[in-house]
Amino acid sequence: NSNYMSMDKNNGMNMGSTDPNATPVTKLVAQNLNAPVKTFNITAQVTTLNLGGGAMVQAWTYGGSAPGPAIRVKEGDRVVVNLTNKLPEGVTIHWHGLNIPGAVDGVAGVTQDAIKPGETYTYNFIADQPGTYWYHSHQQSEVQTGLGLFGAVVVEPKEETIKYDKDYTVVLHEWNINGLSKKKNKDKFNDKDSFNSGNLNNELVEAMTDVKYNMLTTNGTIDSKHFDAKPGDLVRLRLVNTGNTTHLLTLLGIPFQVVSLDGRDLVGGQAMNQTLLPIGGGNRVDISFRVPDSGNVQLVNAGPDANQPNKRVSVSIGNGNPTGTATSDNPNNYKLFDFMTYGTPQKGVFNSDSTFTQTVDMELSSGKAPGMDWAFLINGQAAPNIQPLVIKEGDTVKIRFVNDSNDIHPMHIHGHTLQVLTRNGKAAEGSPVYLDTLNVLPHETYEVAFVADNPGIWMIHCHNLKHAAMGMNMMVNYE
Ligand code: C2O
Ligand code: CU
Repeated sequence: NSNYMSMDKNNGMNMGSTDPNATPVTKLVAQNLNAPVKTFNITAQVTTLNLGGGAMVQAWTYGGSAPGPAIRVKEGDRVVVNLTNKLPEGVTIHWHGLNIPGAVDGVAGVTQDAIKPGETYTYNFIADQPGTYWYHSHQQSEVQTGLGLFGAVVVEPKEETIKYDKDYTVVLHEWNINGLSKKKNKDKFNDKDSFNSGNLNNELVEAMTDVKYNMLTTNGTIDSKHFDAKPGDLVRLRLVNTGNTTHLLTLLGIPFQVVSLDGRDLVGGQAMNQTLLPIGGGNRVDISFRVPDSGNVQLVNAGPDANQPNKRVSVSIGNGNPTGTATSDNPNNYKLFDFMTYGTPQKGVFNSDSTFTQTVDMELSSGKAPGMDWAFLINGQAAPNIQPLVIKEGDTVKIRFVNDSNDIHPMHIHGHTLQVLTRNGKAAEGSPVYLDTLNVLPHETYEVAFVADNPGIWMIHCHNLKHAAMGMNMMVNYE
């Protein structure tokens, strides 16, 4: 594909970055010298993985599995990751959603050189945001993340306001495996027993049917996953989407609450029944629920692809009999979760009377671009020709994303947190919503805002990493 280019390949075309050491290392070392240190030694390597149902793949992994080792630390810990590269190509780690200093952001060609085969590189930062995050390679992200270079990050709060009896992480990943036979799992799964919201006449579901992968794994397998819990337990599930496309998940038969989005807590979310959770590429959705007396809860894929055996999500929590089954629930009774109206309104970082030092429009589309027959565009341009967003420390920046395409664009910002202000001209009505990745559906318009509080060289890009590689990425530079 002659249009194919990488957004982050460290090949000298580095999209206008100027200073590879945006945050001096001295600053890193100076902060919180007394923080407890959590060290992780991780080797990036080629690994043959069994993804379940007999599907063997040559994956690229952090530490021999995909997801790689869970980075689970406490708020305030110093995280030290020694990454040794035994892959045939350069690699990095980007800490998705963590607003850490630019020097450890892990973007090859921008904040560091890709780590060469045979070399070891150390990431060193303070984890001071509680919540669910993830990590992935940012050297040829679209290829390397897809091949398995990803994992979850959980930062436990210093002070727990809610004590969960169980706390589990569910990492969803899409694989595109050549020659995979759909028949392989015919015997294992009964297609009729799947939950299918394909008949929901909805723009989201419509956009989701255009999917280009053939396996959807949960924690590395398409086989059913079981998590232990007993009746009455308060369970937190951290759902992480490391793939490119949006998935729809639901818990069958019991009410649940959404407690945080992209690692940032919501205020006062009410319990909901029969609700479909959209989770865009790069997004995290944390939910909580109580295990009912019957003792078992099912988490399933409720998207239009759920009837394909290799794309089911089959997670059961607790023992005993399921409270609901795919077939007993009528998908038509389900509604979509909408963070614009969820939870309790509260003063946020930005409010209706906020002012902004900068307002920028980003029109998302696709089409021809100079030298490319087809590209994904921001304001009519493809990278590396998109003007960087130039800001200075202390700016309050409002971005208006206008999706003029039929594609979903999960727009991700590095090093900063976006607050959602409006969607399609209507102000957010519920809990303040803070995200690092905003899943912009076809023809939607969002206004979001962020505080420029983390000097460095950053990126904004679509987290459908194929879109990013085909033009939809740009720099955010502090002047
Ligand atoms: Cu999770 Cu620039 O990416
Ligand atoms: Cu996109």
